[in-house]
Amino acid sequence: MDKRYFIYTMGCQMNERDSETLAGLLEAAGYARAEGPGEAAVILLNTCAVREKPEHKVFSLLGEMAQYQRRQGALLGVCGCVAQTCAAEIRQRAPQVDFLLGPRNYADLPKLLEELARDRRQPAEALVWDRTIEEGLPVARESAVSASVNIAHGCDNYCAYCIVPYARGPLQSREPEPVLEEVRSLLDSGYRQILLLGQNVNAYGQDLASGIDFPELLYKVDQLCTAGQRVRFTTSHPKDVPERLLEAMRDLPSVCEWLHLPLQAGDNEVLARMGRGYTVEQYLDIVGQARERMPGLGLSTDVMVGFPGETEAQFENTHRLLERIEFDQAFTFKFSPRPGTAAETLPEQVPEAAKQERLQRLAALVAERAREVNRRQVGEVVEVLVEEADPRSAGHVRGRSRANKLMIFPGDLELVGQTLPVRAEEAYLWGFRGSRESGGAEHQARE
Ligand code: SAH
Ligand code: SF4
Ligand code: F3S
Repeated sequence: MDKRYFIYTMGCQMNERDSETLAGLLEAAGYARAEGPGEAAVILLNTCAVREKPEHKVFSLLGEMAQYQRRQGALLGVCGCVAQTCAAEIRQRAPQVDFLLGPRNYADLPKLLEELARDRRQPAEALVWDRTIEEGLPVARESAVSASVNIAHGCDNYCAYCIVPYARGPLQSREPEPVLEEVRSLLDSGYRQILLLGQNVNAYGQDLASGIDFPELLYKVDQLCTAGQRVRFTTSHPKDVPERLLEAMRDLPSVCEWLHLPLQAGDNEVLARMGRGYTVEQYLDIVGQARERMPGLGLSTDVMVGFPGETEAQFENTHRLLERIEFDQAFTFKFSPRPGTAAETLPEQVPEAAKQERLQRLAALVAERAREVNRRQVGEVVEVLVEEADPRSAGHVRGRSRANKLMIFPGDLELVGQTLPVRAEEAYLWGFRGSRESGGAEHQARE
């Protein structure tokens, strides 16, 4: 029987990128991709622990996967943030799991599979929290247009609510040489967009002896790019946005005018208790400076309601700030207590009903504002990098503007990978429908 694998990926872009490494390792070991878990010899769940809900999903999926273990003897592995933070609970509640792999331990996957081939009764695991991640692991990429490059692993910030540092370990920036080598080879092989990834991507270099920082890396990456090739990065932390970073974004032709800058709360007392390291005034200052330098900037954020002790008045401050800033997109979350974090055991947990009510109010505001921001841009021509056929409308393709706005327009698959001027015609919450500007040359002027 040929050997096949199937990977469920939950969580953030970091996990999506990690799944490409897991797939690469499996393909190097002779496995081919399966269409679904029913035909797989190895099933991996790449998991997310950031809130309770995705964590619960892991346990329900584990129950579902047991049938494939019984039927076709599939090996079942749990990878990612839940493997690292809930190993004991998984062992207890789902003893049928064959192996556990923490986010820094994927290089061990082939070795674990060999061990299990010899003796499956011994559950295997590699869960070193603070390990140095190896360079040069194989990658099986999902897209032929946009490629993600992890430049920093882990996070040292320990925001009071957040489990990520416990799951992914301390900040480990990759040395610039292998990063630049990876970018160069991706561009050489035809990728049109490089997405630089880190949980706090702009803290890049703070742990490296050479003294390189994130703006400097951006300059070096930009030098590798030619016209029409794009660079993006996410997620940026407001405490690490020097003017040089905004200037690099403005000046470097490849670097897109898009900033995902999680605000979390619009109240200084709440921000301080979260341990975020900036004030509302400092955040506004960054937004002002960024918009001044880049009038077409796309600005998105994450906001949380119901952090322990958040009063109605403090929530109102957040609500007001979101009215004032007008983000292009804002992801809203209800605080979810995470095991081992400082906020888990804080007194004054906000009752569920209040959290729910605040979330609804904030989400409604965010949706209304994003629609309004998009409506104002109807009629503009933006430069779109076409990424794929639109899964929902036949004869249409989709891609993103430099400001990261989604654009759907009539076209065929030949356009995938091209950068084209497209006129925004109808505004939605998620972006635009539009049509190609006739006569426009590829790689037209920036928006
Ligand atoms: N590194 C990013 C965030 C990663 S987690 C940053 O520093 O901003 C993605 C988002 O999930 C966070 O921005 C936050 O809004 C939300 N989040 C993190 N922990 C959470 C928790 N315990 N409950 C609810 N939302 C949470
Ligand atoms: Fe979590 Fe804060 Fe690190 Fe973001 S910066 S991953 S929110 S600890
Ligand atoms: Fe989730 Fe881990 Fe990403 S907790 S958000 S998958 S870093």
